[in-house]
Amino acid sequence: MKIGVARETAPGERRVALVPEALGKLQAAGIDILVERGAGLGALIPDSAYADAGATVVSTDDLYAQADVIARVQKPSPAEARQLRSGQAVVGLLQPLLDPGLMAELAKAGVTAISLDAIPRTLSRAQTMDALSSQANVGGYKAVLIGANAFGRYFPLLTTAAGTAKPANVLILGIGVAGLQAIGTAKRLGAVVKAYDVRPETKEQAQSLGAQFVTLKTQIDATGAGGYARELTPEERASQQAELNEVIGGMDVVITTAQVPGRKPPVLVTADAVSKMKPGSVIVDMAASALGGNCELSKAGETVITENLVTIVSPENLPASMPVGSSQFYARNLSSLVLQLVHDGALNVDPADEIAGPVTITHGGEIRSEAVKKLLTPAGSAEARA
Ligand code: NAI
Repeated sequence: MKIGVARETAPGERRVALVPEALGKLQAAGIDILVERGAGLGALIPDSAYADAGATVVSTDDLYAQADVIARVQKPSPAEARQLRSGQAVVGLLQPLLDPGLMAELAKAGVTAISLDAIPRTLSRAQTMDALSSQANVGGYKAVLIGANAFGRYFPLLTTAAGTAKPANVLILGIGVAGLQAIGTAKRLGAVVKAYDVRPETKEQAQSLGAQFVTLKTQIDATGAGGYARELTPEERASQQAELNEVIGGMDVVITTAQVPGRKPPVLVTADAVSKMKPGSVIVDMAASALGGNCELSKAGETVITENLVTIVSPENLPASMPVGSSQFYARNLSSLVLQLVHDGALNVDPADEIAGPVTITHGGEIRSEAVKKLLTPAGSAEARA
């Protein structure tokens, strides 16, 4: 079997699906590695490093012609999708729920689409394959650095001959993977950290990292399936926003990471809350996308400075801003998945397998994912936009 490492072409993407250190285990399993020329450059890996690790560096055309499996970080562009052929597989963070149309095209072309974002995250056997977590970890870390950079004061308490700097008050909203890393990073920079989530089990996790858990008077337990939160009811949302408004006003830096899979990000920081923040405060909205964000005023990919001088940063691809580290972890996730799926030189896409089943979005000319199928119906797509 041959795996081909594609060069990422999405704007700003600097990660690469496999790094040279990850090749050994794949090669030991009898897999040959092809690398598209220049694939590692964004992550500062020259072609020669892949060649030294035993890979063959090839042209784009040769990659698509020879590889049985194309390994990528992001979903293929329309042009790249057209280069994939029947019987070939593509593995990556394909975001099938955000682009069901692409999945339909891949199915029609007979391509097997395997998506790392469909790994069952609560399955301990799949933890080494959990690319959403490894990349959200990088995201949480970088979000704090961005917040610290945009903040005009120190994070730590500093006593100097020129005076004393008070520590920054940082609030982390959403204590999942990104939120936990954000807590740890803000603490290491010396900030006073508070954190909030709607899943009660996160209280102890936040406290163990040194954050104070924010408890609202309105008790909400929104624990959902698979370790995720469920969407709040309109009443819960309104009381949560009203109470959070009070807390947010006293904060210097707010990092938001709240999400419910497949839904629009919940608004936790309203325009009213922003208007009550002090000049110089900073919000970093990690959940911002074209669908909206956790802050009512954030604009995905942009930095907004409000009239009351609050800076709202909404970075879109934080893992790509730390490409060496994020590629290293991603490569481990992807190679673990591939090693799990390969049997006797072929990919096992058995629908009954607890890992192969959920990650195989298309195979044999068909869409397997029920969630993608639903989105392709008029009713399903209307619901997703709501
Ligand atoms: P996660 O699912 O592990 O954590 C999300 C947390 O939000 C959960 O703990 C959940 O309980 C909480 N939550 C949901 N609704 C809430 C509400 N109404 N109020 C308070 N908390 C609520 O997700 P993960 O992996 O930590 O990612 C967090 C977000 O960051 C996602 O939106 C993800 O897409 C985004 N992300 C963005 C990056 C970027 O470059 N901007 C990079 C990586 C992740």
